[in-house]
Amino acid sequence: MNDETLPKVVMPRCPNRQLLKGQKALVTGASSGIGRAVAVYLAKEGADVVVNYVAGEEQAAAVVDEIAASGGRAMAIRADVSSEEQVRAMFRQMIDAYGTIDILVNNAGLQQDAPFDEMTLSQWNKVIGVNLTGQFLCAREAVREFKRRGVVPEVSCAAGKIISMSSVHEVIPWAGHVNYAASKGGVMLMTKSLAQEVAAYRIRVNSICPGAVRTPINTAAWETPEAYAELMKLIPYNRIGEPDYIARTTAWLVSDDADYIQGISLFVDGGMTLYPGFAVGG
Ligand code: BGC
Repeated sequence: MNDETLPKVVMPRCPNRQLLKGQKALVTGASSGIGRAVAVYLAKEGADVVVNYVAGEEQAAAVVDEIAASGGRAMAIRADVSSEEQVRAMFRQMIDAYGTIDILVNNAGLQQDAPFDEMTLSQWNKVIGVNLTGQFLCAREAVREFKRRGVVPEVSCAAGKIISMSSVHEVIPWAGHVNYAASKGGVMLMTKSLAQEVAAYRIRVNSICPGAVRTPINTAAWETPEAYAELMKLIPYNRIGEPDYIARTTAWLVSDDADYIQGISLFVDGGMTLYPGFAVGG
């Protein structure tokens, strides 16, 4: 059984309630993949959204247009999240335009895979720089603004929310991808330590850990029937994830419906972290 033989699962949205009405959200790496889906979905839930991108200006503009076409508010801001200067400028621009920030989705991330003994320092630094340092730089600016502003009860019962887009590879080791797995392992303890540090300010910080999601980052893992069949050996739920699944989880986790949730890693992975080999082995 594969993806094609099962009906597509389309989950209904509750049309009468916007989870994030009046909130201001920044989604990094939002011109494609999971970030794009998150930006569009947060806007559907009533947030004003900044669509951050580093390359792909036209794609980012298309995300802004899509949000505007369905009655939402969005703007695109170019910034390399691994640059302190560019991150600070992006936050200034957002706060000038929207007044503040309530939600940061630290999503920008990339892979530069190589066998360990062939991995260059530049591949190592690039992945750590975007995936880990980038999340640090953006979270630091967000926390500064959350602390300055505090809780505004009409908007949210928290002073601010941060989602670290992590991965199943914050716990699953990944040969041939050591820089990537190291970055996500770092994201896990950065998130939990920060959550502990800022909880008393009512700042919520949590990770979402996607499994294999159909995006440009992992095309090789799903584009041919052979690759897809191999991938299914790793996914008990027997289908690939769609970006929208992550978007819905994100909207809920940053909403006040999830207000008491602090410092967790929420796996959205079709069971990938359940040691699938043990379904028949062991
Ligand atoms: C990676 C994907 C991979 C997935 C499951 C993600 O974090 O970016 O390339 O398919 O983990 O292994």
